[in-house]
Amino acid sequence: MRFRGKDVLVTGGNSGIGRGIVHYFLKEGARVAFAGRDREKGRAVEAEAKAIEGEARFFQCDLSEEHQVEDLIGQTGQWGRLAVVVNNAGAGSRRSGIEPGDRPGARWDKMRGANLDSTYFVSSYALPLLRDFGGGAIVNISSTATLHGNWGLYCVAKAAVEALTRSLAIEGAPHRIRANCVSPGWIATETDTAAPASGAGDWTVAPSVFGRMGTPAEIAAAVAFLASDEASFITGQTLVADGGLSILDYTSLSLLEQRGSVLFSGMVGDIP
Ligand SMILES: NC(=O)c1ccc[n+]([C@@H]2O[C@H](COP(=O)([O-])OP(=O)(O)OC[C@H]3O[C@@H](n4cnc5c(N)ncnc54)[C@H](OP(=O)(O)O)[C@@H]3O)[C@@H](O)[C@H]2O)c1
Repeated sequence: MRFRGKDVLVTGGNSGIGRGIVHYFLKEGARVAFAGRDREKGRAVEAEAKAIEGEARFFQCDLSEEHQVEDLIGQTGQWGRLAVVVNNAGAGSRRSGIEPGDRPGARWDKMRGANLDSTYFVSSYALPLLRDFGGGAIVNISSTATLHGNWGLYCVAKAAVEALTRSLAIEGAPHRIRANCVSPGWIATETDTAAPASGAGDWTVAPSVFGRMGTPAEIAAAVAFLASDEASFITGQTLVADGGLSILDYTSLSLLEQRGSVLFSGMVGDIP
């Protein structure tokens, strides 16, 4: 119950990883406000919160619109004890609203709006509330797309989220506000049709060194750690939670596939 007596705001909490983060903080005793555009999905997560015996309230908001974010923070601020902000809302190419016919400027506007503007607006308006609470934590969700490169602009927007996090960490420090990032690899969610939740499925390469995708709860655990007092000396950092995917190269991937059950030998070659 690390967050009892604290309010937590989770953007994009009405589905996927964000929904897992909402569940996690509720189980840790927090009161949770969460935001998204789809009211129906928001109501469903509110109902799930009752089953967990927690208090969660959905706020409908397009987070790429500054005035809507200002309203959102105004409303959540009335609760009066905002201690944690999780900027989880975001969208890759398929979900960013980019259409094939969009010109470059429109594509960038949409990608930036969903991933970077949302994080920047929410953080900016929430900072005074966190300060007035006596300090707090911001945790932003980026992506390992920033490490690997990625088709399109998603990796660019997410890299900017990581850079923004470092600036927030500097500016927040005098007010006892920490800012960090969690960078997920491939995470299976209920909205994901690319691969089944249980494992690698039809994928031709492993989505992690464990041969499976991660879960929203595994990302939520990393977020909660960085938001908690246990991470009191950690700020401006990005914690990669990708099941080791980013340490693989083609050689280690093929070795993993061929010799996955061999215990550490200290050498690459035949094991006596
Ligand atoms: N799943 C993965 O493998 C993975 C890997 C790395 C990083 N990530 C990142 O993790 C975060 C969550 O992803 P997910 O897989 O859980 O995707 P998801 O199920 O599509 O959830 C995205 C959430 O963001 C919200 N959102 C997007 N644009 C918004 C906007 N303009 N205003 C308000 N809400 C907005 C959506 O709400 P509405 O539906 O109501 O619009 C939804 O709740 C994203 O930042 C994503 O980039 C995911």
